Amino acid sequence: MSTRVTFGATGLSVSPICFGTWQLSPRFWGPQPEEELRSAMRAAFDGGINFFDTADAYGDGLAETVLGKFLASVPREEVVVTTKVFNHFNPDASRYPDLSPAHIIERCEASLRRLGVETIDLYLLHFFDQLTPLAAISETLETLKAQGKIRCYGASNFTVEQFRAARAFGAYDAVQPPYSLLDTAIENDLLPYCQAHNVGVMTYSTMHKGLLSGKYTGEETFSDFRRHHPDFQGERFRAIAAAMRDLAPMAEGYGLSLYQLILAATLMHPSVQVGVIGCKTVAQTREAVGALGKNVSRPDYFAIRAALTIGGAKKVKDATGGVK
Ligand SMILES: NC(=O)c1ccc[n+]([C@@H]2O[C@H](COP(=O)([O-])OP(=O)(O)OC[C@H]3O[C@@H](n4cnc5c(N)ncnc54)[C@H](OP(=O)(O)O)[C@@H]3O)[C@@H](O)[C@H]2O)c1
Repeated sequence: MSTRVTFGATGLSVSPICFGTWQLSPRFWGPQPEEELRSAMRAAFDGGINFFDTADAYGDGLAETVLGKFLASVPREEVVVTTKVFNHFNPDASRYPDLSPAHIIERCEASLRRLGVETIDLYLLHFFDQLTPLAAISETLETLKAQGKIRCYGASNFTVEQFRAARAFGAYDAVQPPYSLLDTAIENDLLPYCQAHNVGVMTYSTMHKGLLSGKYTGEETFSDFRRHHPDFQGERFRAIAAAMRDLAPMAEGYGLSLYQLILAATLMHPSVQVGVIGCKTVAQTREAVGALGKNVSRPDYFAIRAALTIGGAKKVKDATGGVK
């Protein structure tokens, strides 16, 4: 893993690790101290990360605001910023999908203001909107680009068919899908498509919402959104935690933590240019930064995949790798 990659056809030069800011969404993660998050952003930057991901939806603008304060402390040309648009917020904090042109334009202005930048480097549609024609969305994004308000654009959480259709209308050069070594579904369609068409891929929940850090015994309970997540419950949670424990000697052999071993291995996939990770603290960020530039051997990569192939159906599919 090198320390800068060219992000698909966007041409943006970014670190293969992107610092995510969803952690500033109290609805999902509970309240997080703003100061600690800003210090974590600084630790990421000082450690070589130049790519920062946010969304207007994270904390209903809070994450963009906090990221904006951090951005004010670094040279603008040394960072690459992604944000996203999708939700229409009601005064009572409820929300609904809205990628209508007027709404995109209004939200883009609000994001620029909160981030304190003149241009958003990469603007992502957060989800697919069933009601707005792709032609209208794409025309709006092209207008924002022509006005210098965004540099390039892409989509998050689109299926490969939705993304292929979008590209018939505009220059969507990046995707942000969920992907981790516990959730490899997009390897079947979106990743090959992106590799063939030079689309930048920045995965999210790259460490499976913390589960692939190796810090769990499988007995923990959660007060945040993970209390409802099936991978953090019961037998499956215990099985994943046990699989992670079994990988500890391999991590030690590389002089890496389990977190670093998994992050380094995940980023070896040739379609995955960037992994977006979430950190709440400076310590977590420093651990992530420690994975920059690290790789594992081919046999160990497939041994990790085999170890994390937990559950019947997936085991059969992954057995084609010839490892387990
Ligand atoms: N486009 C989308 O729809 C979408 C959706 C989700 C996320 N994202 C983006 O992707 C980013 C990453 O996703 P994610 O938050 O799910 O990422 P993740 O990296 O898979 O998990 C983040 C969680 O892992 C734990 N963690 C972080 N570093 C650790 C370390 N060194 N050791 C142990 N635990 C550690 C922290 O939670 P604990 O300490 O509480 O365990 C943290 O909140 C987000 O911040 C956001 O920018 C985008």
